[in-house]
Amino acid sequence: MQILTPNYILTPNTLLVDMSVAFDKTIHKIAPLHELKKEFPEAEVIELKENSLLMPGLINAHVHVEFSANKTTLSYGDFIPWLYSVIENRDELINGCNSECMERAINSMLESGITTFGAVSSHGMDLQACANASQNVVFFNELIGSQATMADALFGDFLARLDASKSIKREGFYTAVAIHSPYSVHPILIKKALQIVKNENLKLTAHFMESNAEREWLDESKGDFKDFFQNLLKQNSAVSDSDEFLENFNRHKTLLTHVVKANENELKTISSNSHTVIHCPISNRLLGNGALDLKKLQKHNIRWICATDGLSSNYKLDLFEEMKCALFMHSNMPLLDLAKKLINSVTVDAADALGISTGEISEGKNADMLIIDLDKKPSEELAIHLILHRYNISKIYINGILKKGS
Ligand code: BEZ
Ligand code: FE2
Repeated sequence: MQILTPNYILTPNTLLVDMSVAFDKTIHKIAPLHELKKEFPEAEVIELKENSLLMPGLINAHVHVEFSANKTTLSYGDFIPWLYSVIENRDELINGCNSECMERAINSMLESGITTFGAVSSHGMDLQACANASQNVVFFNELIGSQATMADALFGDFLARLDASKSIKREGFYTAVAIHSPYSVHPILIKKALQIVKNENLKLTAHFMESNAEREWLDESKGDFKDFFQNLLKQNSAVSDSDEFLENFNRHKTLLTHVVKANENELKTISSNSHTVIHCPISNRLLGNGALDLKKLQKHNIRWICATDGLSSNYKLDLFEEMKCALFMHSNMPLLDLAKKLINSVTVDAADALGISTGEISEGKNADMLIIDLDKKPSEELAIHLILHRYNISKIYINGILKKGS
């Protein structure tokens, strides 16, 4: 058992002052130091600097580790040219990201306070890097392929990757499933994968309604995807419409990424099934997809969380940077309220959406914790200051083990 003695503790809705935390793998008790010393006389007491803040480790629910080699290769500004550039450069990017490249991306997340991430894995090339990561990992094996003729081969490959990820037996590693998107996965494949997901109660994610091209293709089989599908896949119409796609996820809470172009009806379905929206503001901006309407989501009582997406559509895997961009992107929302929601979105809410017992400094939760060096006593506006000032993170604990600092 160890005891941390910060000046301040950020719990979702209150700031505790002069309380200490006794923990091993999990947080055992939060109380004044003298009480904890009495209860745990053998525990090591860790002294912290003046103005230290203890807060939960951050959770990045959506990242593509395999695409971490991209810096200037992919085309930004518009979704379809970006997608063409992904397809054209896919092999170069995937082969160009060896284990050191993926390790660097994973370590950069750790450096910026990310203690849990959701890795969407297209090829399984990132399995070993994610298995070796310091962080908790939800490993989403992705299913993709809209051509019926390829269905058996693609499903076989998906099953092999799923099985390989199940063979990773370490604390904090969870096997899960990703359905790429409504336009890129044949309904037969989705149904087969969903059977496994429901039988084994796996976490599930999908990209949904990211671009105008997707909206037009699913609604009317026209728009910018028309040429793409005709030329590359010899298809004249979409494999499913958006209602059919969403129906697959009824009664299984799913993490839906982007949702920028969803209509009222889809938002009602998302809400009534308690799905969570993953908001990736930098990716949306770089691919020309506009800004998610957070007010509309809130009106529909839909939970949203913030994530980075991959380096295929971002310049950093850093949730402080992501939250800062979100704070400026959603300029129609009250600043302090948005800042608080953003902090909750990458801690307590993301943990709940991923089904992991973390994201909160509270008794019983995993000891995934950051020590932040504030420069003075925090005010009511702490959430804004945390997002704007990028304070030094002097210690990072994951499942109670010190991963950064001394
Ligand atoms: C496909 O494999 O069918 C696909 C992949 C990416 C975009 C669209 C379709
Ligand atoms: Fe993504």
